Amino acid sequence: MKKFLVVLSVFAVAAFMSGIASAQEKVPGTVVLKGAPLGGVKFDHAKHSKMEGVKCETCHHASKPEHASKVAHEPCQTCHTKVATAPMKTATQGAFHAAMAKGGTCIDCHVKQNAAGKKAPMKCPECHKKENV
Ligand code: HEC
Ligand code: HEC
Ligand code: HEC
Ligand code: HEC
Repeated sequence: MKKFLVVLSVFAVAAFMSGIASAQEKVPGTVVLKGAPLGGVKFDHAKHSKMEGVKCETCHHASKPEHASKVAHEPCQTCHTKVATAPMKTATQGAFHAAMAKGGTCIDCHVKQNAAGKKAPMKCPECHKKENV
């Protein structure tokens, strides 16, 4: 009986989650991106999505042939794995930033915004923190 209830509640949660996923414009709040030995990165998704001039596509690029997307806004790390296997070239780090964080998806905009007086993180430990789990 207990097992049955657990199974039932798993279904309920799954149904609830898929309901959220199908609402296209629903944006996750804060997500913790993990994988780097330096620690996880707490990413305020809602805040970033509302910034002036930002579209979903600023980060969620269109489907590419080497690994076509199944649904819109799939998690980056579904395709950009720690080690890129051919035909993929861009591993996890490259999806977010270049070596030594000199540029890339997350950094190019931070550079631009900081030049305009904002305070977006540029140093490794400003994004990667051991406490972000
Ligand atoms: C500044 C970059 C950025 C922008 C802009 C952005 N996203 Fe995201 N989004 C991300 C990142 C990073 C993740 C987490 C990816 C991962 O976990 O690998 C994510 C995850 C998601 C997920 C969750 C996927 C999952 O199943 O876990 C959804 C849904 C999503 N975004 C929708 C949107 C929508 C809709 C918009 C536009 C209104 C948007 N995003 C704008 C960067 C962005
Ligand atoms: C469904 C698979 C898939 C998802 C999800 C995905 N990508 Fe990609 N991405 C690709 C493919 C395929 C390429 C082209 C081949 C390569 O560079 O490995 C690519 C290339 C890139 C590149 C390098 C090429 C360029 O445009 O300069 C970056 C940066 C990138 N993706 C960032 C991201 C980010 C950030 C996310 C999440 C917000 C994301 N990707 C989600 C499949 C995906
Ligand atoms: C369109 C421009 C843009 C992009 C793309 C962008 N950021 Fe930001 N980010 C900002 C700005 C501007 C701030 C400063 C916000 C403030 O002070 O109000 C910021 C702040 C942050 C902060 C500090 C905490 C916070 O939420 O204020 C983190 C962490 C962060 N960004 C991570 C990321 C990551 C990770 C990515 C890539 C997935 C990314 N950003 C992509 C513009 C951007
Ligand atoms: C603007 C925020 C930001 C800054 C600054 C930043 N990173 Fe990252 N980095 C990320 C995000 C987001 C990811 C993807 C999540 C992950 O892999 O932990 C990432 C991924 C990585 C990865 C790949 C880990 C893996 O899973 O394969 C390495 C290595 C890395 N960063 C090192 C660095 C170093 C070294 C610096 C400083 C020179 C730095 N990062 C600065 C946001 C940042």
